[in-house]
Amino acid sequence: MAFTALVCTGLGYFFLVTRGALIAHAFVPRAQDRFHVYWVYSNMGLIKFSDKKTWVAAVLLFQYDRLVDKVVSEIRRTSLIGKTFLMTSCAFGDVMPKVVKATVNGGADRICITDLIKNELIHARKKLNDFQGKVELAEADATRMPQADGTVEVNLIFFLFHELPDASKELAFCEAMRVTAPGGKLIIAEFHRPRKRIMRWLGRLYFTVFEPFALTMWNQYDPVRYLESKGGWTCKRSTYFFGNFQVVTAIKKGP
Ligand SMILES: C[S@@+](CC[C@H](N)C(=O)[O-])C[C@H]1O[C@@H](n2cnc3c(N)ncnc32)[C@H](O)[C@@H]1O
Repeated sequence: MAFTALVCTGLGYFFLVTRGALIAHAFVPRAQDRFHVYWVYSNMGLIKFSDKKTWVAAVLLFQYDRLVDKVVSEIRRTSLIGKTFLMTSCAFGDVMPKVVKATVNGGADRICITDLIKNELIHARKKLNDFQGKVELAEADATRMPQADGTVEVNLIFFLFHELPDASKELAFCEAMRVTAPGGKLIIAEFHRPRKRIMRWLGRLYFTVFEPFALTMWNQYDPVRYLESKGGWTCKRSTYFFGNFQVVTAIKKGP
């Protein structure tokens, strides 16, 4: 009984801070570039309350650590000495401190973390206290990045695409491709179309209720399919938990 009440409260809270925001934004006018942003990322109280490892891990079916380990190992495998690392948008849990530690140890010249929402960057700064003076945190829209063409050696995008409307996904892909240096890596952690029919059915239900922009990650905005259709990228994909999640490492071909 107590367990059922806990699960229902958790689901209700999750609905409110994700889909609830999308519903409300349809009635309460909001800047066009941020109508898709869930309350859980814009309200400081909700950010602090929600940024708990267990909570984040549960949303990713307890695959969070495996996904983060893969991302970190891809970063460690890249020579970053004198180069720029970019994380396009913040994320909950310990992915940011782990990634920053790997890039600092890798000798990166510049470590930049950007986000559309100022409160997310303020929160990120506190989480990155151990790396004071080593990380640049800046407000930036993934669909209009300030970085010059081909200047980023590693560009990490951790579970952002599925939260963007399709038109913004298109622009964010273009920007990610543009800023990555020839020979550099674009690392994308995201949802993936599951192998098992039951998982696809449950996934569809989950996306329809909570995250309506996510379903196109299974087809036209699947990162490998998208990047290979554009040409000039070599992609490697690892999938997790019956194919529900993926980490794609895409290398931009040289000139
Ligand atoms: C990257 S996703 C992370 C989701 C995942 N559930 C997690 O926390 O691990 C959420 C972040 O994307 C940011 N965001 C949303 N739209 C954005 C955009 N157009 N440009 C940059 N950041 C954006 C939000 O402000 C939020 O900080």
